[in-house]
Amino acid sequence: MAKNKKSNTVAINTFKNKVFITKTPQETRNLARNFASVLKGGDIVFLNGNLGSGKTTFTQGITKFFGNKGFARSSSFMLVNEYQAFNNLKLFHLDLYRLKSSTIFDIGIEDYLYSGNISLIEWPQRLIDGQNESHWNVEIESLVNKRKIKIEKKK
Ligand SMILES: Nc1ncnc2c1ncn2[C@@H]1O[C@H](COP(=O)(O)OP(=O)(O)OP(=O)(O)O)[C@@H](O)[C@H]1O
Ligand SMILES: [Mg+2]
Repeated sequence: MAKNKKSNTVAINTFKNKVFITKTPQETRNLARNFASVLKGGDIVFLNGNLGSGKTTFTQGITKFFGNKGFARSSSFMLVNEYQAFNNLKLFHLDLYRLKSSTIFDIGIEDYLYSGNISLIEWPQRLIDGQNESHWNVEIESLVNKRKIKIEKKK
């Protein structure tokens, strides 16, 4: 898979509206790692899927691509975890599971989303009007012994 940060126009089509099957967490991380190569500043990635489907595992591949050490985790208490991306950009991993929609704007989520950095969001349906935003949508479906991962570019 193409993995060139400088000319990502070819690679982007590798992921636009495509479905992938992974059979292990490592395969999911590898897919996410390749996908990370098409991300640029300002991008927002929605991570959809049931509890335990692999959203955080997918995030781990992305943080690895940008050279972060260790595995990304969804912490019970932190809403946002911050990592390094490239060119001094940051990568924000937001897990909105515990939030009620009404509190989203109180905590200033838009400050992350519109900061020009890259944001990955678990449970993005908590975002009011989130579907209207330009974003990548990653949909993970847990099937017997495998995950079906659909990646789409919305707008
Ligand atoms: N192909 C696969 N891809 C990803 N995870 C897999 C796969 N096969 C098995 N797993 C397991 O499924 C679990 C996925 O957990 P993960 O924390 O990534 O899910 P999540 O979607 O973030 O859950 P939550 O909604 O609770 O945050 C892990 O225990 C992982 O080992
Ligand atoms: Mg998670």
